[in-house]
Amino acid sequence: MRMASLLLAVTLFAAIVAGASAQVCDPADQKSLLDFKDQLDDPENGLAPWTPNSDCCTWQEVRCDGNGRVVSLSLSQTFSKFDLPDGYQLKVKRGIQGAGAPLGGLTELTELFIQRVAFRFAHPIPPQLSDLLKLTSLTLFECEFIGEIPASFGNLVRLNALVILNNRLSGPAIPDTFGNLQSLNTLSLANNGLTSLGSQKLTLLKNLQSVDLEDNKISGAIPPWLGGLTFSSTITATLKLSGNPFTGPIPDELCNISGLMSLYIANTGVTALPARIGNCQSLKVLYLVNNKLRGSLPPGMGLLRNLETLAIGSDDKNFNRMSGPLLPALGNLPKLNDFDIANNDFSGRIPTTYGPFAIFKVPPEMTRFQGNNLSGEIPVDLRGVPADRFRPGNPGLCGTPLPPCN
Ligand SMILES: *[C@@H]1O[C@H](CO)[C@@H](O)[C@H](O)[C@H]1NC(C)=O
Ligand SMILES: *[C@@H]1O[C@H](CO)[C@@H](O)[C@H](O)[C@H]1NC(C)=O
Repeated sequence: MRMASLLLAVTLFAAIVAGASAQVCDPADQKSLLDFKDQLDDPENGLAPWTPNSDCCTWQEVRCDGNGRVVSLSLSQTFSKFDLPDGYQLKVKRGIQGAGAPLGGLTELTELFIQRVAFRFAHPIPPQLSDLLKLTSLTLFECEFIGEIPASFGNLVRLNALVILNNRLSGPAIPDTFGNLQSLNTLSLANNGLTSLGSQKLTLLKNLQSVDLEDNKISGAIPPWLGGLTFSSTITATLKLSGNPFTGPIPDELCNISGLMSLYIANTGVTALPARIGNCQSLKVLYLVNNKLRGSLPPGMGLLRNLETLAIGSDDKNFNRMSGPLLPALGNLPKLNDFDIANNDFSGRIPTTYGPFAIFKVPPEMTRFQGNNLSGEIPVDLRGVPADRFRPGNPGLCGTPLPPCN
């Protein structure tokens, strides 16, 4: 009898100790995660370790704080199980209402990263994510979300990074409420179906480092108000607008963007460089390939002392067709090492100031002169550039690496 009660006491004690150590995870957080798992098809059991009897803080995708609250959830291709087929996806089950809503219960989350969890059957971004007020980083990558960017994301005032990449979103890119996101440094809404830029309140933010709106459906003129953006000066400041059906000239105002170092406007319908491009003093990268640019090089380009990459070439003659002479001053820019003008209509000699380009890159990846109407002898400092960067086109060009001049 005494033996039996001792055994019982020991068993109870062991159960309590085991229970305490197994239950590090906050029960409500664990329930939120399991409720989310219940919404998903997971035929290969990628989330097999996610069970009611285990401790969520031990799950590979989860990180907890000292109180067992979930502070980080990272659902990507690497789920807890390692032998999954390449490109394995979790998929929302058919008929689920409020897909992703349980994640709204993880109120201590600071980082949420979801990649390749397919919100099939036309789900919008769960509005409950706006309740995660401690988020500093939110990434929704390749999740098939539809609908608009929730205006309520303006509540997430601690966000440093908002990345909603490769989904099927529509409507405006920037809700008015984004003026509240004072900590935001990285905004990427690339590769969706967004149809307009949206609110000018983006100009209220003072810590931006990168704004990426590439590969959407934003049409019309690039609005001059973008010139009111402020980039934090410490890091490479990047504005990416490529792959949108923009028309009209690139507005002069873009050169007012404080601290702008890299400007990507490729594969759009823009028709002219900013006339006062000389004001873009901090520019390092000007990447404008495959647009509809016309006209000659603005003389102000010779003032861009920080310029490293100048790319205004095209894949064939259906895009940029700039003309006139090449500016000798460009050859004196101390850092210029990539120079691409392929398939425009530039004519005259290549100034003897040009080259050597690609100081940091061998072979010169982007230096291209082909497809123009240049003539005369190739300058000494460009003799190391391969012949196929001058031909076809340029029938009047001669000297190494092409045949000698007569
Ligand atoms: C912005 O750029 C335009 C055109 O280059 C110029 O007229 C204007 O004064 C600039 N505004 C500010 C605030 O710098
Ligand atoms: C090519 O340039 C030469 C002068 O260098 C000019 O005479 C000729 O008309 C140009 N050809 C075309 C097709 O623009």
